[in-house]
Amino acid sequence: MLLLVFVFVRFSLASSVGQTEPAVDSWYVAAVYEHNVILNPEPRVPLSRLAALRHMQRNLDIYEEQAARAAQLDAQILVFPEDGLQGFNFSRSSISGYLETIPDPQQESWNPCTEPGEHNNTEVLQRLSCMARRYDLYLVANMADLQPCPLKTAPSSCPSDGRWQFNTNVVFRSDGQLVARYHKHNLYFEEAFDTPPQPEIITFDTPFAGRFGLITCFDILFHKPTVTLLQKHVRQLIFPTAWMNQLPLLDTIQFQQAFSLGANVTLLAANIRSDRLIMTGSGIYTPTSATYHHAQKGDPEEGRLLVARVPVLDPLLMGQSVLMEEGAVRGECHKESCFDSAPPETASSVLPSSATFVASMMYDSFTFVLLNETRGEVNVCNGTFCCHLQYQRLPPGGSKEVYALGAFAGTHTVNGRYTLQVCALVRCAGLDASSCGQEVEEAESKMDFLLEGRFGTRYVYPSVLVNKLVLEQPERLETTADGRVTMKHSKMTDGLLTAFLYGRMYHLDDE
Ligand SMILES: *[C@@H]1O[C@H](CO)[C@@H](O)[C@H](O)[C@H]1NC(C)=O
Ligand SMILES: *[C@@H]1O[C@H](CO)[C@@H](O)[C@H](O)[C@H]1NC(C)=O
Ligand SMILES: *[C@@H]1O[C@H](CO)[C@@H](O)[C@H](O)[C@H]1NC(C)=O
Ligand SMILES: *[C@@H]1O[C@H](CO)[C@@H](O)[C@H](O)[C@H]1NC(C)=O
Ligand SMILES: *[C@@H]1O[C@H](CO)[C@@H](O)[C@H](O)[C@H]1NC(C)=O
Repeated sequence: MLLLVFVFVRFSLASSVGQTEPAVDSWYVAAVYEHNVILNPEPRVPLSRLAALRHMQRNLDIYEEQAARAAQLDAQILVFPEDGLQGFNFSRSSISGYLETIPDPQQESWNPCTEPGEHNNTEVLQRLSCMARRYDLYLVANMADLQPCPLKTAPSSCPSDGRWQFNTNVVFRSDGQLVARYHKHNLYFEEAFDTPPQPEIITFDTPFAGRFGLITCFDILFHKPTVTLLQKHVRQLIFPTAWMNQLPLLDTIQFQQAFSLGANVTLLAANIRSDRLIMTGSGIYTPTSATYHHAQKGDPEEGRLLVARVPVLDPLLMGQSVLMEEGAVRGECHKESCFDSAPPETASSVLPSSATFVASMMYDSFTFVLLNETRGEVNVCNGTFCCHLQYQRLPPGGSKEVYALGAFAGTHTVNGRYTLQVCALVRCAGLDASSCGQEVEEAESKMDFLLEGRFGTRYVYPSVLVNKLVLEQPERLETTADGRVTMKHSKMTDGLLTAFLYGRMYHLDDE
């Protein structure tokens, strides 16, 4: 029996009301700040604690201004980006002056603002705590933590210098109390930091929206901690990031929204703003709305505060039984990989289109087929994994832009290792087939389409991105109990850059 789950999504930048949303009082105001971090020009040169503090105070001054603005706009929670206080590219020793030893809030209650004498060398924690308290909001920031480690009791995971250095998110309650500390698990070329000995699954509760979970940057692509949080029914995630954009599949806002839609969660994403590092793209995403910012070429290199009123999604506050919900949302499937990878039935589908070619997209060898008609239907497979597309280009006989449908099933191995099944409809950067899969930011061809694949995972993240990095909410998404995911979209507002179904085969990552 096929269990069909239809989701009709509506897209709006302000508040939107839909059948899936909670009662009127179940809303809160969230804020994220995209920060143009003031950098240390020589991050590999060690500096004194005093000099490191002087540097961080300049970024903290900006945080303070933004906390004041967010409070004026009634924000109840404010998120700052990864590395927003110290910047990047430190060595293990050159970051020393920036480190504070952050006490574990699960072990002790501490309000750094009102009890500054409890722990030495915690100026940054104190300032952040006082900011939360002064502006009466929950505040999330990312900073560098030093934890001495017992060489005797944990000799295998303790670095030889007897200390762990962690990339860390801290959360302060609106009275300044430190309520959560999360150590990033999936590091991305960060030689100053250690991977924690165990993945940490960290949540905190708020009176206005219930439970939130914490992840950082690269974590979003991996099972631990991200999917572990989802499996614990955490439906509101906080995501400080320092993410370098990479089209056609991993631009910041594109993947942020895809994750929110695919996981059916709220994501509060705060990125760094830097032209040189190609970092921009922050937002407040819910399954029915997206409030986001993505700087364009030539925009001034400056920060941006985003504030949005969003629905509470905590299942307990919504009065839902979490077990019921899991059954309802995900069919009978409770496992990691719900679906076998049997080849799809061919009866109703077109035969694989003959004129396929292989081109590299995001360092992966996609099998592509060109869309060479005004309207049509194409299939493309990589092994037994097949993607199907029905399309109609608008206006008929319009631009000469080249589009292709690509399929990839395999393990991505460059700058991180993760296993994927992806169906992607892309605008090719040039007129040649060889340009398909390369970066392009502009397009003028609109398209009505239906994109479909049968996935060996229930974790499939959908996205539609148009000209100059504008997001569209897919008109309709449908998942069947055997893993078939269909995305239908029409009435595009601008030319199509990329539409994808991005399946993460977490269960195959370690193979
Ligand atoms: C980090 O340093 C390397 C050289 O050591 C440089 O190539 C790179 O651009 C730097 N990255 C950042 C984020 O500053
Ligand atoms: C802080 O440092 C001072 C001077 O080094 C020391 O006397 C005091 O005990 C320390 N306080 C804590 C809480 O460690
Ligand atoms: C998403 O969550 C809402 C509850 O917030 C639920 O009603 C809906 O069915 C879920 N959608 C999917 C596709 O799981
Ligand atoms: C499009 O490609 C198919 C083969 O994939 C070919 O049969 C068809 O003639 C082509 N159409 C045009 C308009 O070039
Ligand atoms: C997918 O395509 C690539 C490139 O053609 C190929 O090397 C790989 O074996 C294919 N994967 C499967 C599962 O057939």
